[in-house]
Amino acid sequence: EPKKSLDPDEEYKLSGDLRELYDRLLPSKESEDRRTQLCKKLERILDEEWPGNDIQVNMFGSSGNLLSSSDSDVDLCITTDAKALGDMHELAKRLNKHGMEKVVCRAAAKVPIVKCWDPELQLACDVNVNNPLALENTRMIKTYVQLDDRVRPLAKIIKYWTKRRILNDAGPGGTISSYTWICMILNFLQRRDPPILPSLQKMRNAERSTANGQPSDFVDDVDALKGWGKKNNESLAQLLFQFFRHYGYEFEYTKHVVSVREGRLLSRTEKGWETNSIDNKEGRHRLCVEEPFNTYRNLGNSADEYSWSGLHNEIRRAFELLEDGCQIEKVCEQYEFP
Ligand code: CTP
Ligand code: MG
Repeated sequence: EPKKSLDPDEEYKLSGDLRELYDRLLPSKESEDRRTQLCKKLERILDEEWPGNDIQVNMFGSSGNLLSSSDSDVDLCITTDAKALGDMHELAKRLNKHGMEKVVCRAAAKVPIVKCWDPELQLACDVNVNNPLALENTRMIKTYVQLDDRVRPLAKIIKYWTKRRILNDAGPGGTISSYTWICMILNFLQRRDPPILPSLQKMRNAERSTANGQPSDFVDDVDALKGWGKKNNESLAQLLFQFFRHYGYEFEYTKHVVSVREGRLLSRTEKGWETNSIDNKEGRHRLCVEEPFNTYRNLGNSADEYSWSGLHNEIRRAFELLEDGCQIEKVCEQYEFP
């Protein structure tokens, strides 16, 4: 039986260690400035290549949701009406012409992207075109992160752990994306008792605010909602421990679906994602995480049975190390391939 909670002295010590780690993980001002510069630079390049069009370059993902580190890749989304920019091969060619290196075009991916490296600003980036969903889900994550002071350190520390243990690559043969982990973290916080986070998409009574003149699909009034979860006084250390306990031992992978949109767990049956469903492929995956906006998408579908089991073992490993009073450094020790 896994230990129920951390003892007070363990909790105190781990809390201190986590604060220290969190401080180290915060991006430097200098690295944030370089990100902004990269955005502006790409806008200049695109304006020069496709003059006379209204073209914006927006940061999303960790560069836009307060969860980046100094070494994170930059996720960029070009928004424009110019049709010519939809041709990813052409975009790749023009970026290369302007000095971008390691330019790779993934035109056939679910979301077509161009990957490149800017040797001047020393930044790697993934560029896509017109993906409003990614901009909105980034803005929602940022809103959640701002609601309670525990969200940012918890998410950053878990992301650091996933990176060190090589658990955040959704590519072929990989595990799941950082974005999927973030949804699992937010939903875990929505389900604490008392909850630390609400469902921003369910708060329909509140006055809907607007972003860029468009109606928002979620409540985004941070000032009004800040401190929403303060009835829960669990510490950062306790939450980290409980996160691993939850996904290591409590969460029933064959029955449950993580739903940030609903702010609770859905059963696979109500979601229509049964393990053996013939007409819906999403349920065949061991991990079910609903994309909050495109709810037919399962963000857990990048992990096959083998990689899910590796992932599950890693969650349990982290829990057991914390249970044994080990240091966070040990939990986040760099994974070495055998
Ligand atoms: N995204 C998405 N659907 C996915 C994966 C990603 O819509 N299946 C979008 C989300 O907007 C997400 C962004 O792509 O915020 C970046 O995803 P990812 O790189 O996984 O997350 P980051 O927060 O950028 O984390 P990291 O620092 O590890 O890059
Ligand atoms: Mg990213």
